[in-house]
Amino acid sequence: MATANTRVGLIGLAVMGKNLALNIADHGFDIAVFNRTTSVTDEFIKENPITPGKLIGCQSLREFVAAIARPRVVVVLVKAGPAVDSIVQQLIEAGLDAEDIVVDAGNSLWTDTIRREKEYAGKIKFFGSGVSGGELGARFGPSLMPGGDPASWKHLEPIWKAIAAKVDAKTGQPIPGAEPGKPVQGGVPCTAYLGPNGAGHYVKMVHNGIEYVDMQLISEAYFLLRSLLGLKPDELSAIFSDWNRTELDSYLIEITADVLRQRDPRNKRKFLVDVIVDAAGQKGTGKWTASNALDMGIPANSIAEAVFARCMSAIKGERLIASKKLRGPTIKKLRAGTAVIEAIRQALYCSKICAYAQGFQLMREAQKEYNWKLDFGTIASIWRGGCIIRARFLQKITDAYQINPQLVNLLMDPYFRKEIRNGQDDWRKVITLAVQQGIPAPAFMSALAYYDAYRSAVLPANLIQAQRDYFGAHTYERLDSPSGEFFHVDWPAANRPELKV
Ligand code: 6PG
Repeated sequence: MATANTRVGLIGLAVMGKNLALNIADHGFDIAVFNRTTSVTDEFIKENPITPGKLIGCQSLREFVAAIARPRVVVVLVKAGPAVDSIVQQLIEAGLDAEDIVVDAGNSLWTDTIRREKEYAGKIKFFGSGVSGGELGARFGPSLMPGGDPASWKHLEPIWKAIAAKVDAKTGQPIPGAEPGKPVQGGVPCTAYLGPNGAGHYVKMVHNGIEYVDMQLISEAYFLLRSLLGLKPDELSAIFSDWNRTELDSYLIEITADVLRQRDPRNKRKFLVDVIVDAAGQKGTGKWTASNALDMGIPANSIAEAVFARCMSAIKGERLIASKKLRGPTIKKLRAGTAVIEAIRQALYCSKICAYAQGFQLMREAQKEYNWKLDFGTIASIWRGGCIIRARFLQKITDAYQINPQLVNLLMDPYFRKEIRNGQDDWRKVITLAVQQGIPAPAFMSALAYYDAYRSAVLPANLIQAQRDYFGAHTYERLDSPSGEFFHVDWPAANRPELKV
């Protein structure tokens, strides 16, 4: 039986859990680990005999709880949903008490985190933290988005700050180079306390909503380049590598360049991307973001569009049948000039700015709803490294909110206004081309629709209000009367006096 002296414990040794545990141990923290299938724990300990902090494998939850120094900090990495409640109950039965902190590091729904904090109060302290960065991020530096009771954060903070990705204090660029046993020294950690109860998990969900759009936009750029210019995947890879030296410099562009040059392991003459089925999966965080936008009445149409684009991709069977019956224009190949490539790059960049604008608009509304005080500059700054959407331009978003923390919409920031002013002719040209040639580009289009609608002083909703009043007496407001004063007209009678009785 281990003695109660490890600094922290971790439950759930799937890939993310193992890597996070090794990352914690690399930073000199002794850590107790537990997995439901105990052979996984044994193998994990055997495979990692020497780490700067000790890894203590536990065979039962009682042994696990007994191994951790008080107040116990227990990081839980199990599947979001009922498994989280089940493990919390088991931990309470195994001896966790009211002073101990359970950190849910999965992709949990923020409302579950709010509920759990209340439900377990007095038994344990429930704390939520978003973790982004995939397997490698967890191992060598993720972006961590904590939310919950500030007193609990004080116990977690040294660990979270140690293991998070680091960025250069001046440039905001990620500091690369962590190796097993040798963590990065210096730099600013990509984590910060975001707010009470579900704030961390909410911010992580919005991160994922933006991630969905980023990925959809990149695939639309790939598809347009491919369809219009007839380029091969390795040629496209070179284009994405070039783009990664521009404002688009980001993890997702970098891995896209890698993906596109990868050969099929079964047949080296082919590219792997060409044998992958074009039907995207999803685990639900993008859908949560889009449906929360609908619930709050916030226009996050590109986020919703990115989710629907995955849904459309997934009905591959129907699309195959439709492709033989529904006619559209025949694609005319263009010459592979740099102008078209640059126009597509600009379209991607402008659309990306709109996607982030929508994500931040959502967080602005949610903080009112949940009484949080989110610091948008800080959120952008902890996304600069470690997470899936890490990108050079997150420094610009950080700057925008530091200059003006009350910024109503990212599109109103002078830097981003200028960027869209420069790129929008190309953006419009690319969308026109896509429409003329019949190439689907839903996220490009929805982002432009967002931009054009947001900058419109007048929208056709006056007509909608008139229609609503016509058929349902829903009333309308007048431009020449104070807001809040409602009018109704007997439309059929006004138009057709013969109906008047
Ligand atoms: C991250 C990712 C991660 C997410 C996967 C899969 O930030 O590390 O967002 O949390 O679970 O990317 O998401 P989908 O299966 O929904 O694409």
